[in-house]
Amino acid sequence: MTFDFDTPITRRGTGSIKFDRRPELEPFWVADMDFASAPEILEALHRRVEHGVFGYAQAHEGLNAAVLDYLRTRRSAEVPLEQIIHLGGLVPALSLAARACCGPGEAVLTCTPVYPPFLNVHHDARVALVTVDHGFEDGRWIFDWAAMERAVTRQTRVFLLCNPQNPLGRVFSRAEVMQLALFCEAHDLVLVSDEIHCDLIFDEAATPHVSALNLPPALAKRTITLLSPSKTWNIAGLGYAYAVIPDAALRHRFAATRGHTLSEINALSYYAAEAAYRHGEPWRVALLAYLKTNRDSLVDFIRTRGPELSVVAGDATYLAWLDARSLGVASPAGHWEQRAGLLLSDGASFAWPGWIRFNFGCPHARLMEGLEKLCRALT
Ligand SMILES: Cc1ncc(COP(=O)(O)O)c(C=O)c1O
Repeated sequence: MTFDFDTPITRRGTGSIKFDRRPELEPFWVADMDFASAPEILEALHRRVEHGVFGYAQAHEGLNAAVLDYLRTRRSAEVPLEQIIHLGGLVPALSLAARACCGPGEAVLTCTPVYPPFLNVHHDARVALVTVDHGFEDGRWIFDWAAMERAVTRQTRVFLLCNPQNPLGRVFSRAEVMQLALFCEAHDLVLVSDEIHCDLIFDEAATPHVSALNLPPALAKRTITLLSPSKTWNIAGLGYAYAVIPDAALRHRFAATRGHTLSEINALSYYAAEAAYRHGEPWRVALLAYLKTNRDSLVDFIRTRGPELSVVAGDATYLAWLDARSLGVASPAGHWEQRAGLLLSDGASFAWPGWIRFNFGCPHARLMEGLEKLCRALT
């Protein structure tokens, strides 16, 4: 089956955060893609809309079965249904985890650069944040274990992991996930593993995803694994994610922390998620081939036309992390906004000023126009 990722779809004027927040700029920032979702998902949504009644919804049997099958076949994890907590988004789960696991005087630990909410959910919990920079060795991003050992304290309660890593695009190896879980065990931390990008790996044979769900039971009992079909099938605006929490006490603590702070989950999102997991595989495979071409074009373009910048090809997802420190400007995103009319994510919000994140989840022609503007504004 062929899918069309090339024909542009006008998103301006559709209430899109990416396009409508700063309509005068060309956006390559927030992490959604400019593609229509998979046809099977659109059909499922049409069927549900045709029903016409949109009262309060709960996860229906078809969704629960699709999630469990997905976990079994794609994540190699046998998960009992009661370990799953459905949510309207993954970011609220990061906040719930911080609030459920940390008390006054305690802290959350994470490695940077990282998706900005990782650096902010500690405010919800009124606890401290400790960060450690990722290292770079032999052409790839790594954990700086020595720095992590120095940074962790007896007050640290939670490690927030992003795997695959946004913005670095790294898929952590089995050895790294295992070492991180042992680090969490040694320091009595809950490991919160955000795996929202795990179905966007370009070469799963070379860089397989190792979920926190694949850890041995003694380590898995201190984990909260967060998943969603939203990034892969471009349905983030519908709002659906889920947490898998094997340990009953931790699960109850996490669930109780919701209180009255979260709304019921969108009735349509459940059906979109079911269709994604049940029928979305051919579209996902085609999408990844398209994104890989985009990634390679971006890396080639930067290396040939923008040698002042540097980039490492990511293993996963449609986000590129560009080193723009040689520009010597405080805000590279501000530079490209003024000089090129581009809207990019500034590294400062990922705790690494001087860098930018570029979203290449768009038609190839639009990507090349954006890169042309990016590199022209270097001179
Ligand atoms: C690592 C990561 N986690 C979570 C999210 C957002 O999740 P949600 O929209 O379900 O809150 C994103 C979106 O870019 C992300 O990159």
